Amino acid sequence: MRDVLEITNLHYRPATAERPVLRGINLKAGAGIPIVISGASGSGKTSLIDVISGLAKPNKGSFYWNNKTINNRQRRWLSGVVFQFPERHFLGLTVGQELRLGHRRLTNESQTKVLSKVGLHDVKLKQAPETLSGGQQRRLALAVQLLKNPKILLLDEPTAGLDWSVRDEIIEFIAALAKQQVLIVVTHEPELFEGLMNSSFELSDGQLHQMSTLN
Ligand SMILES: Nc1ncnc2c1ncn2[C@@H]1O[C@H](COP(=O)(O)OP(=O)(O)O)[C@@H](O)[C@H]1O
Ligand SMILES: [Mg+2]
Repeated sequence: MRDVLEITNLHYRPATAERPVLRGINLKAGAGIPIVISGASGSGKTSLIDVISGLAKPNKGSFYWNNKTINNRQRRWLSGVVFQFPERHFLGLTVGQELRLGHRRLTNESQTKVLSKVGLHDVKLKQAPETLSGGQQRRLALAVQLLKNPKILLLDEPTAGLDWSVRDEIIEFIAALAKQQVLIVVTHEPELFEGLMNSSFELSDGQLHQMSTLN
């Protein structure tokens, strides 16, 4: 049976925000069917990722994983998040170090394996992350999350700031990833994901509006 995440009647007001940003979000996301959520800047896309991943606590709403209720802690455990501009938060001096943060006993073999999973076959473990191209840095950030084996993968603006050639590469790669887990992408450039994503929604006025379903 494929994994399914379901969200019902989610409301969220960030601690210092004047009014709720999310006001009655309902969403069902199954593994293998990638979800794209678009929305203007400030519409609450990043807030939604924060809440789904258990990093922020909702004011109201329920989450179900395969029909069982899950709490914040369980969502943190299930989720891998690639934040916007992840390369700004690299801490390792080398690619290998970056992969080992939080996975201290990771063998060289596992490191090489996860790198090839994200298409970084030619990258050396001793290489400095800054020497990678923009697209390669995004892939490295994804590799770090994949090591966690997340059942739910959340990507915040994965194409932001990349040039066109690299964007295509990242999008193809995202499509391949979606086959294995629940995948939710938030973006302000939904046209880039056209044809690739089966279900797309727009976030506006704190709610999700379905744009298309091809499945
Ligand atoms: N921690 C916070 N404190 C106060 N306001 C916040 C906080 N996080 C988000 N907001 C507000 O919530 C709204 C949605 O923000 P965000 O989720 O970052 O939108 P998006 O990612 O779509 O640009 C914005 O108006 C933003 O100013
Ligand atoms: Mg954002």
